Amino acid sequence: MRRALVAGNWKMHGSSASVARLLGELLQGLNSDAAQSDADIVVCPSHPHLAQAATLCADSAIAVGGQDCSAHAEGAYTGEVAPDMLSDLGCQWVIVGHSERRQYHGESDAVVAAKLAASHSAGLHTMLCVGETRAQREAGQAEEVVRHQLATALENRAVLDRLVIAYEPVWAIGTGLTATPQQAQAMHAFIRGLLREWSLDADGTRVLYGGSVKAGNAAELFAEPDIDGALVGGASLEAKQFLAIIAAAAQRAQAAN
Ligand code: 13P
Repeated sequence: MRRALVAGNWKMHGSSASVARLLGELLQGLNSDAAQSDADIVVCPSHPHLAQAATLCADSAIAVGGQDCSAHAEGAYTGEVAPDMLSDLGCQWVIVGHSERRQYHGESDAVVAAKLAASHSAGLHTMLCVGETRAQREAGQAEEVVRHQLATALENRAVLDRLVIAYEPVWAIGTGLTATPQQAQAMHAFIRGLLREWSLDADGTRVLYGGSVKAGNAAELFAEPDIDGALVGGASLEAKQFLAIIAAAAQRAQAAN
């Protein structure tokens, strides 16, 4: 049984005051419900808040991750953050290949693969995001797009170690449009099939769903056999919502035991 994982991508939101408040509420909520230890929990604040978050979450059930990292280990790359710097701040995780990085920062599949290789070399756990746009889905290209994104990122087979894949259909991000559990399951099963085809650890690799996950739709998504948790945007900024999503993931784990 793959362990459930719920990660919050806070994107470009927050201040030191709101980070302290949100993490305080989350830690309090988790302390009062031991059952939630059945899910791994990660929060990904923006870079300036990582040190604060790592300090607040030290020795807790919440791990901290960056939202992106450089493909380079160090050097003259103004504005970039090296994977080792994330580790140094107390991060164990990083997201690479988010569709907002691909869309607004022109990150190609090859750049994402280089970032994944760099984060892997630095010893981080990585959430690799893949997913198709609405136009690509409507043109019947969703599987082909995801196959190419994954094939490029996983060309270096070593990176599968400490890797989590997040399927985030671009049309479902921040739009309130969620893939139906059946649509998400179908793509998750396709992804697992690709890992099997490539002789990678298909059964042991966690595949998260992301795109308008809320307290109200988490349980039905987690009921699908190949959905191992969620990468949550907007709803991860509200403690009550995020805790409810974690509880839904933990219940899935308990139901399977
Ligand atoms: P929303 O949950 O706000 O749709 O964002 C999903 C996402 O992009 C997580 O990385």
